[in-house]
Formats: sequence, structure tokens, C-alpha cells
Amino acid sequence: MLEPFQGKSLLAEKDFSGAELYTLIKFAEHLKYLKSNNIEHHFLQGKNIALLFAKTSTRTRSSFTVAATDLGAHPEFLGAQDIQFGKKESLVDTAKVLGSMYDGIEYRGYEQSVVEGLAKYSGVPVWNGLTDEWHPTQMLADFMTIDEVFGHIKGITLTYLGDARNNVANSLLVTGAMLGVNVHLVGPASLQPSQEVQDIATKFAQDSGSQLLITDDLEKGLTGSDVLYTDIWASMGEEDQWASRIKLLQPYQLNMAAVKKTGKADTIVMHDLPAYHDLNTKLAQDIHDQFGLSELEITDEVFNAPFAKQFQQAANRMHTIKAVMAASLGHVFIPVLAEE
Ligand code: CP
Ligand code: NVA
Repeated sequence: MLEPFQGKSLLAEKDFSGAELYTLIKFAEHLKYLKSNNIEHHFLQGKNIALLFAKTSTRTRSSFTVAATDLGAHPEFLGAQDIQFGKKESLVDTAKVLGSMYDGIEYRGYEQSVVEGLAKYSGVPVWNGLTDEWHPTQMLADFMTIDEVFGHIKGITLTYLGDARNNVANSLLVTGAMLGVNVHLVGPASLQPSQEVQDIATKFAQDSGSQLLITDDLEKGLTGSDVLYTDIWASMGEEDQWASRIKLLQPYQLNMAAVKKTGKADTIVMHDLPAYHDLNTKLAQDIHDQFGLSELEITDEVFNAPFAKQFQQAANRMHTIKAVMAASLGHVFIPVLAEE
């Protein structure tokens, strides 16, 4: 029996091959179909899943909770304030204890080394729900959404505008390179990905044929793009950097001028969310009071345009996270790895 994912962790995209990531996306599309047709899929009946969150979350936490429940498993939320880890108990001791009770662990936090340590010492599959470096479960939902909209992934050109060295930008560059997507990261020189991240992506691109571009030139980055993507200008843990980020990133806002620069009629817009497109959040109001801006990384006009797919993307978080958990723990039979 072929169970290529059984017992495996998802700590970063590079832990899998492009074909394996594509297989997980296709499996998620199948699970979405089952859910919408009320067909049970209890692959994880009787399993227990720990959800560790050192940073806040709406989509990732809800996706793991709903997906685990749909699969017949019990999810247990363990927030930073609820457990001994981080204050009174070490990573190794915590991992050993959790691994003795839970069948799988989700972790969202800061250093990548924590999610790696949990996997090493717990002995159960660990899923990265976002670290400072990578956001792999987000990628599955993003490329599933592209597959749904365009009917394929390979050969698509995706341009990311903004803080081009955060977790989402790093992950888009590497995942796109793995899946044969042309990825353009467009942002100021001081906010471009590390050489290490670029090297990982370049290696994958040599195999997949994807064309990568990292530039501060909007014209070059936007022309011919099928997908425009942006993210918050100061990620969780970087809240003290708003002033410098606003100064650097205002030219890289995702607005109608950027959409027009693609020169394409069917370009879509994506955002992992939460987004700062109006003044209906406390953070946006604080920024408005301090800097006089009422829209940040994306304008309200673009956010509400019919070609903006961020809510389809958000909904797909649940289906893709479900696919990852079921494939890691559910003894799912996968006859061949999907290829485009
Ligand atoms: N996109 C994303 O990870 O959202 P949350 O922070 O709400 O989980
Ligand atoms: N780059 C953002 C992503 C949020 C889902 C952050 O890390 O805060």
C-alpha cells in the first residue's frame, strides 16, 4: 500500500516534493467535494490533535479545529498562556509529554527551530501553522485557489508586492518554484529574501522550469502577471517597525494602478489575511492617527473587486489543512502522486 505521507511532518514546503504538494492540493479539492456533499470522511476517528499557538490566529486555528472535527479527531487548543511551555518547561520536555498523549501537533510561533524541535522530540507528525520563516499550510490553500480559478497551476505567473522577505513571501517563492509557477517578488532591496531562501528556490526552479524574479522594479515585476499577492507590511512580532515599513513599502501598495500594469484582463488578487484595506480595525485606526493613511498594503477598491479571491483562499485553508492531517495520520491510500 502506498502511504507516502503517513507519519510525516510538514515543517517547511521543502520537506516534500512538488509532486507531493500537488497531490495534497488535489486531495484537498476531493475533501472539499466530500464536505459540500455531506459525505463523511472520518479518517482520524479517535485521534487527538494538540494546537499550540504562541501567536494569534483566526484562519489557521479555525481550520485545524474544524478539519480535525470533520475527520473524527479531537482538537485541543493550547495557547501560549495556557501551558507551561515557554516559561516553566523546556521544548524537549514539552515535546516528549505531548507526543505521549497526542497523535499530531500543530505549532504556530516565532523561531523555525521550535517547530523542528517539537517534531524531533515528540515522535508524532508536527504541522507548521506559521513561523517567522515559513507558512506552508497557507501555500497549499493559495495554490489550490489558483488551481480552482485557472484550472491549472504550472506556468502561472504570480507577483508578490510588499515585504518580500517575510514568511509568506519566502514560502511563495519556494512553493512556486516547486510547482512550476513563475514567482516575482517585488519590494525594496532591504526587504528581499535572504540568499539562503533564494538558493532553495533556485534549486527547485531548475527542476520545474519556473522563472524567478526578485526586484524593486514595479514595471518589470507586474507585466504579464496572472496573480497579484500581498501581505501585511509588519508581521507578528515586528509591531515596532511600522514607521520604517510604511516609508519603504508605500510604493508597493496593491492598488488599481498595479493591477493595470499587468496588462492582463483576467489577473486575480490574493491576500493571506488579515488585510489593512480600510479603517475598520484598531490597528488601522492607530496607523491612521499616527501616519494619516487609511489603506495600507491593499486598497479597499482592489480588496472588494470581483477579481479579489482572498475569501476563497481563506476557506481553502480548512480543506488543505484537513488534507495534510488526514494524509499524515489517516493511513490514506494514494495510488500515484498527482502530476499536472
Ligand atoms: N492567513 C492566516 O494565517 O490567518 P490567521 O493568522 O488568522 O491564522
Ligand atoms: N506575514 C504575516 C502573516 C499572517 C498570516 C505575519 O507573520 O504576521
